[in-house]
Amino acid sequence: MTNPKISIIVAIDDKRGIGKNNKLPWHIPEDLKRFRRLTSQHTIIMGRKTFESIISYTGKPLPNRINMVITRNPDFRAEGVSINTSLEEALFEAKENEQSEIFIIGGAQIFQQAIDMGVVDRIYLTKVEGDYDADTFFPPYTDFKKVISEESREENGIKYKFINLEREE
Ligand SMILES: NC(=O)c1ccc[n+]([C@@H]2O[C@H](COP(=O)([O-])OP(=O)(O)OC[C@H]3O[C@@H](n4cnc5c(N)ncnc54)[C@H](OP(=O)(O)O)[C@@H]3O)[C@@H](O)[C@H]2O)c1
Repeated sequence: MTNPKISIIVAIDDKRGIGKNNKLPWHIPEDLKRFRRLTSQHTIIMGRKTFESIISYTGKPLPNRINMVITRNPDFRAEGVSINTSLEEALFEAKENEQSEIFIIGGAQIFQQAIDMGVVDRIYLTKVEGDYDADTFFPPYTDFKKVISEESREENGIKYKFINLEREE
């Protein structure tokens, strides 16, 4: 078993909103590119609803990554993904294969559990300016005070920042 870093990658609005009607509330192509660049060739862990949201956009699991889906439903089946019954189990299994970095990619339920478990080393945050009337929210992340990098951007009239955060030592 290796000891890979465990990271969250998430985009939030001013109210920590992350989703609406099981979709992303915004369309920011550069953010999606960053997501792809950071997570490709690594393991991604997601809740069943986020998996279904991805399928609604792309029709298949995300390519060039190990896709792990968490569900309580023992009958859940999907092609091209590994299915787990808890975040703990998914992380245990992910560590058997992943050498460098495991990405927890959402949604709100899985982010909350990951933060509560205290297992997260780093947050790749995209802070989107505005209130998108979201129905799902990222939890408070007050332990992550160390700013590793910060970059302001604007695309399609949307202002946002890429902020990489770690726990204070
Ligand atoms: N802005 C972003 O960066 C971002 C990222 C990801 C997702 N999102 C958004 O977030 C929303 C989805 O988030 P969500 O909180 O509704 O759902 P979610 O966390 O993606 O998935 C929830 C599901 O995960 C399973 N689950 C949760 N905890 C579990 C546990 N302890 N053991 C076993 N299974 C467990 C359950 O599946 P079953 O019901 O099958 O048992 C539960 O219904 C969407 O709007 C999506 O677009 C946004």
